[in-house]
Amino acid sequence: MNVSHVVSGRSRQERTVQEPTIDALPRFPGGFLWGTATSAYQIEGAVAEDGRGTSVWDAFCAAPGRIKNGDTGAIACDHYHRWPEDLALMAGLGVNAYRFSVAWPRIQPEGRGAANATGLDFYDRLVDALAERGIAPALTLYHWDLPQALQDDGGWMNRDTAHRFAEYAALVADRLGDRVPTWITLNEPFVHMTEGYGLGTHAPGEALLLDALPAAHHLLLGHGLAVPALRERTSGQIAITNNYSPVWAATGSSADRAAATAFDALQNRLFTDPVLLGRLPDLTAFGIGDPPFVRDGDLRTVSAPIDRLGVNYYSPTMVAAPHTAPAPSGPSGASVLGEVGDRLDGAGLPFQDTPIEGYPSTAFGWPVVPDGLREMLVALRDRYGDALPPILVTENGCSARDEPGRPDLERIEYLDGHLRALHRAVEAGVDVRGYFVWSLLDNFEWAEGYDQRFGLVHVDFTTWERTPKASYHWFRRQLEAQRRPA
Ligand code: NOJ
Repeated sequence: MNVSHVVSGRSRQERTVQEPTIDALPRFPGGFLWGTATSAYQIEGAVAEDGRGTSVWDAFCAAPGRIKNGDTGAIACDHYHRWPEDLALMAGLGVNAYRFSVAWPRIQPEGRGAANATGLDFYDRLVDALAERGIAPALTLYHWDLPQALQDDGGWMNRDTAHRFAEYAALVADRLGDRVPTWITLNEPFVHMTEGYGLGTHAPGEALLLDALPAAHHLLLGHGLAVPALRERTSGQIAITNNYSPVWAATGSSADRAAATAFDALQNRLFTDPVLLGRLPDLTAFGIGDPPFVRDGDLRTVSAPIDRLGVNYYSPTMVAAPHTAPAPSGPSGASVLGEVGDRLDGAGLPFQDTPIEGYPSTAFGWPVVPDGLREMLVALRDRYGDALPPILVTENGCSARDEPGRPDLERIEYLDGHLRALHRAVEAGVDVRGYFVWSLLDNFEWAEGYDQRFGLVHVDFTTWERTPKASYHWFRRQLEAQRRPA
């Protein structure tokens, strides 16, 4: 069956979306993890309950003008109270894995000291309930919600935060180490550093540009210190999740290619070379040689062996040499860097963000390039060779203009295309062990508030009613087909 639906596109022009839904996806390897992903601040709400401390995101949302429509994560999806319903939705979907994050301020309200047992209880119940449904937890320790008390001491610009993070990791693993098979230390430290410390578009709202680099190093150090702390307490797999984006040069000119190489070092290598190779990438294009904040022995700590690499993929990026391409136009995002790209452009950096034309785009304005996922995975394999652990795609998905009663065909098309690209990467020999859709639920999309909807399940943010979308049913049928005996 191949049904044509006419829907109105982002520019309000009518466009036709073909429903690509009915064909089964190619078979993925046995034991593959199929899941959905969320993060604490984006779904939990209950920010003042059971002893939770304040996070940098609570503070950032309270400052006027930071978040679209003045939205906050104070209630979000109210998952803290409605988690049994959310688990039932996952069980109905037929996933065998779920990626969620633990809110550090629930465990250590002030970012240091003894664990708040009530905070741990919430995740303890969640993990047991997942196990009862045959869903394997993939636990992210840090998805950007730093305790505000640590931010008051400098946050990730302060080296001490790396040590606090390892202590926090140990407290979580003391309680859950026996039941969680996958541990992800950090989520997308590149985005956290760039938006949180470089540009100020995310919490904690610092706009230090390249002076934010110590935050990158301290995040990596925190990861490296957490690895042995976790090893002592769990036999689970340990991973870090980075966002990767193929970086395309706007033209074949040597200036544009140099710009692409420079941006690639920042986006794709800064948080990977130290972890997998024990060294920093070449940052000379940014005027950075041997940074003083990297101390002797740090890179050995950072490169403690890990078991999985978490890969988040949304879109490729295109860059040009500075000031040679027209500035991106329109609302934040003909390009994947969107507003971030616009701000970087004025910052005297060795590249300029450039819109990618000729592809459909998501409601966010991000270009839809499924083969970019294959391209990225193959590039990681070629770049890191034997140093590359097996990969988990820990996020992939898109925002769409989702309204109840309107099938989210763009999301189906997006996921279908990306899963086929993922399969091509597997066929090309990349060792991929799992795939998590971002996201289970529409949720708090950071500076965009609730405007960008990424869920397989629609959430009405006035009643908190959950309604599975067409993409939820599509994914359920695909998972059923994957489970059928070959
Ligand atoms: C990556 C981030 O990890 C997640 O928090 C965010 O919602 C998605 N990208 C979509 O932007």
